[in-house]
Amino acid sequence: MAQQREAIAVAPLADFPDGSHKVVKINGREVGIFNVGGTFHALPNLCPHQLGPLCLGRVSGTLDRRPETGWQLQWIHDGEIVTCPWHGMEYHISTGQCLAYPEVRLRTYEVWVEDGMVMLRK
Ligand code: FES
Repeated sequence: MAQQREAIAVAPLADFPDGSHKVVKINGREVGIFNVGGTFHALPNLCPHQLGPLCLGRVSGTLDRRPETGWQLQWIHDGEIVTCPWHGMEYHISTGQCLAYPEVRLRTYEVWVEDGMVMLRK
């Protein structure tokens, strides 16, 4: 039988207004908690490039060119991208996908709201 991982109360929901994010320490590890449009996501606060504090970076969107837009620059994923403060690598918050390197994807944590608390499963 698979062992259920422990659920941990992170902080009151009121500490995470829509669009906010912060880094919390859980069992000695730093985790970035993000409220993106009322949906919560969590990523390790560790950029795989050179181990920078990824989740202290700003949250925004990004510019991209796609065949669907005739290769015109377009602003996409507004409020869904965190940019590492050290060298600017961008990651999609909900999936952990690095935008520049398709082979790089961060782990994500299960995070949800329960009885007014933001909860996380490691
Ligand atoms: S350490 Fe994050 S971009 Fe370099």
